[in-house]
Amino acid sequence: MSNLLLDVNIIIDICIKRESYWQYALEALQRCQNTSGQVWIYTGSVQTLEYVLTGELIKETDKEISSKKAHKLAKDILERFCKQYNWLASLADDGNVWGDDDPEDAQLYKAVQRLSDGLLLTRDKRLLQRGSFAISPEQYTSITQEKKSIPFIELQRQQSLIRPQLEHNIHKVLHHGKYILGAEVQTLEEKLAEFVGVKHCIAVSSGTDALLIAMMALGIKQGDEVITTPFTFIATGEMIALLGAKPVFVDIDPRTYNIDPDKIEQAITTKTKAIMPVSLYGQCAEFDKINALAEKHQLPVIEDGAQSLGATYKGKQSCSLSTIGCTSFFPSKPLGGYGDSGACFTDNDELALLMRQIRVHGQDRRYHHPQIGINGRMDTLQAAILLAKLEIFPEEVEKRRLVGENYTKLIHDNHLRIISPHIEPYNTSVYAQYTIQVNHREDTIQKLNNTNIPTAVHYPVPLNQQPSLETKIFKLSIAEALSHKVMSLPMHPYLGIEEQKMIIQALC
Ligand SMILES: Cc1ncc(COP(=O)(O)O)c(C=O)c1O
Repeated sequence: MSNLLLDVNIIIDICIKRESYWQYALEALQRCQNTSGQVWIYTGSVQTLEYVLTGELIKETDKEISSKKAHKLAKDILERFCKQYNWLASLADDGNVWGDDDPEDAQLYKAVQRLSDGLLLTRDKRLLQRGSFAISPEQYTSITQEKKSIPFIELQRQQSLIRPQLEHNIHKVLHHGKYILGAEVQTLEEKLAEFVGVKHCIAVSSGTDALLIAMMALGIKQGDEVITTPFTFIATGEMIALLGAKPVFVDIDPRTYNIDPDKIEQAITTKTKAIMPVSLYGQCAEFDKINALAEKHQLPVIEDGAQSLGATYKGKQSCSLSTIGCTSFFPSKPLGGYGDSGACFTDNDELALLMRQIRVHGQDRRYHHPQIGINGRMDTLQAAILLAKLEIFPEEVEKRRLVGENYTKLIHDNHLRIISPHIEPYNTSVYAQYTIQVNHREDTIQKLNNTNIPTAVHYPVPLNQQPSLETKIFKLSIAEALSHKVMSLPMHPYLGIEEQKMIIQALC
């Protein structure tokens, strides 16, 4: 697998079907794509492409075609060709080539080195002599390509789809220079609030900080208790403990892996200050029951929706279902950035204002701090990236749902002795993870690893057994038993049905 950057001569060969060259070139491109590689065209080549192809078309028709017509035809052909592949942006440093004998070649050679595992496909002898980053179509098709492996999470295909918008947004920030709470952060907050269907979104520095800020806004402090699930990522319990409060763990529903709402009431004491369910693996917890209980005991509810943005519960979006909803934009999350960030959501004006202040050191105006806060801001660059990703997020949510449902169907059709995820009929899951239950987990993982299929375990140790949070107050037999059985399969919106069949075949 490699990324191929195309020299102008390769593109022209294919466009005019130049005898004894074009088939080799096309074969190289197909080979690259068939082995999960990507084909790139350098934006700095546009003018040369246009000029050379127009000249070739005039030559080919023996000057019978006017240069205006040839130019139009050349643009049409190039547009069709380029649409099939990716544009590789020309960057500022690509201009530093005047000391080179051939500045245009030097630009291409610089550009290809930005690609990971990149090769410049050319038949230009001088370029081929520049070094090991240049390769001819004949050389490329004769090298043995690695067998395609299935990644656990694939972010490259998504990036190819949104690359122009992504680069546009990032460059805009580089030019305006407002790296902290720039305009992109507010735009993102408005768009996310609209997507989730709440009044306020507060963009923050991570999903972990979103939980911390939410609890700080609710005044949770030393000696308080917060009821939550033990079957989650450490951040959920960790942030409760960081505030000096006690995480009170309640066992889970064995079918959904979410907190069992029927076991919450027995855990409520006079010290209880909030209930914090997690919408695990992309499926919302049982909010009607949880909210009813919370109302009865006058407690706020915080949804840890780090894995569930895009999921719905009875037609309502995750993160709109309780007093405060929190999510994470960690890169592997359903809506993931290129670094850490997160968000808090609420309909409550007062809490929204407080969370905004806590995000900037508890400040209500410059250098005036009525309460303790943190540095919990989302970077402007991260917001710019998320804005590009948000545009295709609704389609990706749908794709994720289909991938999840295909897995479940394949498991059932193949009569595998595996428990597939149970999605409540009133829920839609965003399948942050596709997590199954098996009896002999180590053997199953080994079987999949032998065929180069990666797996993960979410999570091998329930929080009540983590040394930092250990508690033996309640019996948590379901969470403890399931932590030995769950394992997750590769999952992303672009996972093809053939790849899914290979994964299921490896489980048979
Ligand atoms: C359930 C849950 N809560 C909280 C977090 C923390 O989010 P972040 O990694 O953005 O801090 C995660 C992230 O993995 C998570 O899965």
